[in-house]
Amino acid sequence: MDKKIKVAVMGATGAVGQVFMWMLADHPWFELAYATASASRVGLKYASTVHWVMPFEMPSVIRDVEVKEFNFAAMKEAGVQIVFSALPAEVAREAEPQLRDNGFYVFSNAASMRYDSNVPILIPETNVDQLDLIKDQGYPKTGFVVTNANCVTTGLAMALAPLRKFGIKGITVHSYQSVSGAGYPGLSSFDITDNCIPFIKGEEEKIEKEIKKILSIDPEVYAYTVRVPVMFGHLEAVWLDLEQDVEVEDIIDSWANFKEVADLPSTPVLPVEYGADNTFPQPKYAFWGNPKGMVVYTGRLKKKHKKIGFLLLVNNIVKGAAGGSIQNAEAFVKRFGLI
Ligand SMILES: NC(=O)c1ccc[n+]([C@@H]2O[C@H](COP(=O)([O-])OP(=O)(O)OC[C@H]3O[C@@H](n4cnc5c(N)ncnc54)[C@H](OP(=O)(O)O)[C@@H]3O)[C@@H](O)[C@H]2O)c1
Repeated sequence: MDKKIKVAVMGATGAVGQVFMWMLADHPWFELAYATASASRVGLKYASTVHWVMPFEMPSVIRDVEVKEFNFAAMKEAGVQIVFSALPAEVAREAEPQLRDNGFYVFSNAASMRYDSNVPILIPETNVDQLDLIKDQGYPKTGFVVTNANCVTTGLAMALAPLRKFGIKGITVHSYQSVSGAGYPGLSSFDITDNCIPFIKGEEEKIEKEIKKILSIDPEVYAYTVRVPVMFGHLEAVWLDLEQDVEVEDIIDSWANFKEVADLPSTPVLPVEYGADNTFPQPKYAFWGNPKGMVVYTGRLKKKHKKIGFLLLVNNIVKGAAGGSIQNAEAFVKRFGLI
């Protein structure tokens, strides 16, 4: 590529927006040209206004980025083609169709357009062909919106994609979800410190709907989702009912062979890594891997009667949000050739 594609981040100061800013600071294909937050921050330098929650230092190149207002003309003037949205769903519901109508290629983390029939919920390793749905939205004559899945569903879809061949009849999943999943400032420390909250609004319904749309399967899904006092990374305990009677070795082989499935800058060589140690995986490994936070880790694999059980760890704000969106934009650039 001779020159980088100019991109914008909407909601750059939130938990997901910060991951976008960090990952785009040094991206081989994309260059940050525009960043927005809510109106009170417009005109301020990024480092002076953001409450940086990432577990490593802010890259120096984003410190002086000016927070701008949401303005189509100014974004066009800045050369923006791709827009990464880390907006709350209620704001995205209004903003994203307008961005699409104004010719921008929108990659969104919000749930507001996920269930539209012509909007893909994309995970390049699992369903890259779904990208063709952007033509039903009018591309290349217009812009489009591509979404990524809810963060819990992303981890689940990654672990299950290579197991589809065994026939997935039923999924039971119980999640242990970190506080960063609720954004910043998110939950009150009074509610979550030394505590677990056994309800996350809308989450269980999202898992059921999204796993079916992403993997084109129709299993029975039983989910419980629980918020736990952990900063980053969602753990999920999964039990599967499979049509075929498989052994744990078949599952390990399937994950090990699920490699180089999407040759993109933000895709790990081995996107689902299994660890046999009984204490693996743990949320403290959420930023492991290359690129950091993009690998889904599995462990505690067992078979009881015909059911297969395991645990998985997904970094909710990287693979489960901003990193997944960046990977989706890379998949689009590669498939449709933007330059
Ligand atoms: N956190 C996760 O793990 C995760 C995972 C997957 C998907 N998502 C989805 O990703 C989106 C962002 O989540 P988040 O956790 O990053 O939320 P967040 O921490 O609350 O951040 C929201 C961002 O949007 C900005 N914003 C809020 N209201 C606005 C308005 N009216 N106009 C313009 N900008 C506005 C905020 O700016 P200020 O800072 O100035 O208020 C902030 O930059 C949500 O749709 C969420 O459901 C989150």
